[in-house]
Amino acid sequence: MDTSDYEIILPEIGEQLDQNEEWFMVKHEGQVKKVRSHDYDEIYRIPGLYEDIFYKRLGCVSPKVVCELLNEEIKKKGEQDSALRVFDFGAGNGMVGEIVRKMGCDFLVGVDILPEAKEAAERDRPGVYDDYYVLDMTCLEDEEKRKFEEYNFNTLVTVAALGFDDIPTRAFMNAFNLLKNDAWVAFNIKEKFLSKADSSGYGDVIGKIMDDNLVILQERKYCHRLSVAGEELCYHAIVGKKANNIDDISGIIRAAG
Ligand SMILES: C[S@@+](CC[C@H](N)C(=O)[O-])C[C@H]1O[C@@H](n2cnc3c(N)ncnc32)[C@H](O)[C@@H]1O
Repeated sequence: MDTSDYEIILPEIGEQLDQNEEWFMVKHEGQVKKVRSHDYDEIYRIPGLYEDIFYKRLGCVSPKVVCELLNEEIKKKGEQDSALRVFDFGAGNGMVGEIVRKMGCDFLVGVDILPEAKEAAERDRPGVYDDYYVLDMTCLEDEEKRKFEEYNFNTLVTVAALGFDDIPTRAFMNAFNLLKNDAWVAFNIKEKFLSKADSSGYGDVIGKIMDDNLVILQERKYCHRLSVAGEELCYHAIVGKKANNIDDISGIIRAAG
């Protein structure tokens, strides 16, 4: 990868900030800037910065954990020889796509809402995706929906992109509903969103999907990464098979956003 010159300065943070409030300083091209950890557009623009901050310094293991879990389940079911047609939703700069490609897949499409994500994926991991779209899955145009249905995806992977201000539940539902029944679904989510104590409503939607629309084959609790303050961030990696389409959750979605 062509990494440019930059310097990361992690702040001394005494308190535990929520993940979407974390920040660090970046010195790049003569300027020092405060970057929030969810300012993905700014992060993707600098080659190597995303990998450096989240993977090297904060020890993120989620693409590896989620993809390994998926691979294990595929092997257990004896489906390793069947062609995987994978939808990487919230694909970012292609870290997950790269692993899925190495696992072996027939066809791989990435979707992200940010043009900077697509640019970074093409710049840093050329050839990983067969197609990569910048679009908002909360409101798919009819033509886009038709095209996605024609892709005949049999696997949905969404890593480090659910919860907080990232992928809204309706967008996840639309992606999920593109799959045929019995398709593989692999994602991760922060533990707090699965707890009854979560007041955002996000967990209610994910919990309902897990109860009603998925046959869960594996759920693993693990440390997604360290926070900027050095605390372990606990996530669950979940792999299952789609049982049926998600419907009738508009009421919960309204509450969850
Ligand atoms: C932490 S990154 C994860 C990227 C990649 N999956 C990985 O594990 O490295 C979260 C990604 O979700 C994307 N995202 C957030 N909201 C989205 C939405 N509504 N639709 C599609 N992608 C979204 C962000 O742009 C960002 O690239």
